[in-house]
Amino acid sequence: MHQEATARNSIRVSETVYHLLEMRKPRVLAVCSLSLLLSGAIFASAQNAQLTSGKVNARVESLLRQMTLEEKIGQTVQYSAGFATGPSASNLTYDELVAKGSLGSMLNVVGSERTNHYQHIAMEKSRLHIPIIFGLDVIHGHHTTFPVPLAIAASWDPAAAETVARVSAEEARADGIDWVFSPMVDIARDPRWGRIIESNGEDPYLSSALARAWVKGYQQGDLSRPDSVAASVKHFAAYGAVIAGRDYNAVDMSELTLRQVYLKPYHAAVEAGVATVMTSFNSLNGVPSTANPFLLTQILRNEWGFNGFVVSDWAAVGELKNHAIGDAPTVARKALEAGTDMDMEGNLYATVLADQVRSGKIPQKVLDEAVRRILRVKFALGLFDHPYTQPGPAYTPTPERRAVARKIAGETMVLLKNDPVEGVGNLLPLSAKVKTVALIGPLADDAFDLQGAWTVTGNPADVITLKAALGKRLGDKLLYARGCGLLPAKDEAALKGVTFTSTTSAASTEALADEQQSIAEAVEVARKADVAILALGEPSNWMEGEAASRTTLGFTGAQQQLLEAIVATGKPVVLVVLAARPLELKWAAGHVPAILQAWSPGIEAGPAVENVLFGDVNPSGKLPLSFPRAVGQEPLYYAQSPNGRPADGDLSHMPLNAQQKMVSRYMDEQNSALFPFGWGLSYTRFTYSYPTIDHAQIPMRNIALDHKPLATVSVDVQNSGSVAGTEVLQLYIRNTSASVEQPVRELKGFSRVTLAPGETKHVTFALGFDELNFYNAALKETIEPTTYDIWVGGSSLATAATSLKIVE
Ligand code: NOJ
Repeated sequence: MHQEATARNSIRVSETVYHLLEMRKPRVLAVCSLSLLLSGAIFASAQNAQLTSGKVNARVESLLRQMTLEEKIGQTVQYSAGFATGPSASNLTYDELVAKGSLGSMLNVVGSERTNHYQHIAMEKSRLHIPIIFGLDVIHGHHTTFPVPLAIAASWDPAAAETVARVSAEEARADGIDWVFSPMVDIARDPRWGRIIESNGEDPYLSSALARAWVKGYQQGDLSRPDSVAASVKHFAAYGAVIAGRDYNAVDMSELTLRQVYLKPYHAAVEAGVATVMTSFNSLNGVPSTANPFLLTQILRNEWGFNGFVVSDWAAVGELKNHAIGDAPTVARKALEAGTDMDMEGNLYATVLADQVRSGKIPQKVLDEAVRRILRVKFALGLFDHPYTQPGPAYTPTPERRAVARKIAGETMVLLKNDPVEGVGNLLPLSAKVKTVALIGPLADDAFDLQGAWTVTGNPADVITLKAALGKRLGDKLLYARGCGLLPAKDEAALKGVTFTSTTSAASTEALADEQQSIAEAVEVARKADVAILALGEPSNWMEGEAASRTTLGFTGAQQQLLEAIVATGKPVVLVVLAARPLELKWAAGHVPAILQAWSPGIEAGPAVENVLFGDVNPSGKLPLSFPRAVGQEPLYYAQSPNGRPADGDLSHMPLNAQQKMVSRYMDEQNSALFPFGWGLSYTRFTYSYPTIDHAQIPMRNIALDHKPLATVSVDVQNSGSVAGTEVLQLYIRNTSASVEQPVRELKGFSRVTLAPGETKHVTFALGFDELNFYNAALKETIEPTTYDIWVGGSSLATAATSLKIVE
């Protein structure tokens, strides 16, 4: 009886707990002395063995011996023969360059017909027949568009990220793309920065788990498979911390924070075998990343053992001149010597390296090493043996692919609020009996923006909008009004048809002739309905992604006015937020009973939102970052450092008095997030038991630098409501006494668990060196005698606690 119960429990545990340990390879240094442990250690990380196999190396060396200087430099050059996302090297004749062996890589060339065209020239006309590697920004799907990465992070489901990467890889490879510029794993804690939507959010633990999954999905642990693509983890490093959230700005941070927080997800991607790394536009502590030997050589190669190649970001080598660290030849030399192997569209390696190598200013071996790294990836991908893409129709979003996109989009939605309304109860899920529904807002029927900010080949014609999906379900019970534009009318008119990253998409919305009239009409529509659904957000093409920083975080255009006008009708309102960054939702949270954060959901936007609104899908998403009360709180994140004068609770609502003055607070706003990290409601309720720990006290001598668990935290979670649901259990720790102050809370485990009504599951979390260590003042990973407070619950506000002591 007892044995049976144990066996059942262990099956449940292995099914439900996301053991990150499984995915990690053993570190080289498995056993060490206590003194080494105490001073920390530098681990040689797992590498991508495929890139350094004897066979690949032999082929690389043999080829390298035959190459001229010009041919070597050609391998380090990448140009776009498609759209441009920055200044571009103009007037180039790509056919000629490829035939001369002067162009080793291209980006933004999509479709087998186009890629094969250049590949035939490379293979048939160039002297050494070295294939081109074709790269593209495949960020959240290719033809089948998925929710943007930040939304996928809200699923807290690495398997979902892996699936998106897998589907994307298949579709991209069929389009001649062997290399995708993803995953972007920059820790992002400031939503003024538009690129936050491409990130996994604010937390290094969650982001690292997702980084591993994205890489696995793209590369499948085997680059030579015909449907694998090389991934590129980006942007190395710390791009998410640009000062004031302004894109391309400088980054200034301590090495301790860099290592403890920002480097973690890139490292996870390298450990997962990522084949390439992209540099970031920013400088870090005064040194531009693209010419930063500390990042690109010391950390990436020497400490982590990365053995793929590094590509610059777009024109970043050329733009080093703007960083004022030298003239063109100098900055190109600095970039190459620092470890940037390929120059994306910067047009400097092509033009200023040769003379410097000839004169000995750049050692030949530096160039050879860069070429070697690039060739290794080309060999590992099998490009020399299978250079062409089988011509054929591109993948289209089939019903099966759509079903996957819809399911994943459903998992990403976060129910922020669902308060009961007098006489109605909880507004969500909407009752099947609802008579008339008013769907209002500029994103309700905007196929283009619902796709999300970074879709190159996504076609808005494939997108099912909210209006289409709800119309199908409700027929003439659905009333619709656009209400207002996403931007002021003059901007909408000026931007119509403008896209920045896309080959097929074009803005579909028309500027409204009279916006005030349109809002008044929407109010009339709401008055006729039992419930109003507002689909509001921001324009993804113009206000999200690269070069889309903001100083305010409200709804764009006249949307706030529209929202207030509809709320003023007294009709129950459900707000669906279709913005992929945290917006300032304070007014909405105070006046709207139900709020669903739906991000940019992609091709199946309409059905995914509809399923959640009507309860066919029970929302399970949790915020991967903190939503602010006011933009002035940014950068806002839960894992704050402690300070000497902590505010006791949220004070801003209290009358000012002398006792509450001299503490770490804002005079006009609470410190806390409006919706905290990890937050997300469900249509059911989950009840947690108090967590228990199997080893509450561990002597230092038992601690080793390996991945073995030192203690296991267990909790029972029950679905105490009446519908099935999925909960994301989260484990947080606080190191209460360390030689370097530690955050007030840190995520160190999570698990998605699906429960039938009444069902209970026993969930365990392993804590070992990986979870408990921190960087000491000497910048070494270490564990010291201390007590860890441990909480398990459904958000970063979890209160059910246990603890773990580390003793001498
Ligand atoms: C610039 C962006 O920063 C980067 O993310 C992207 O991959 C390249 N351009 C290529 O388009």
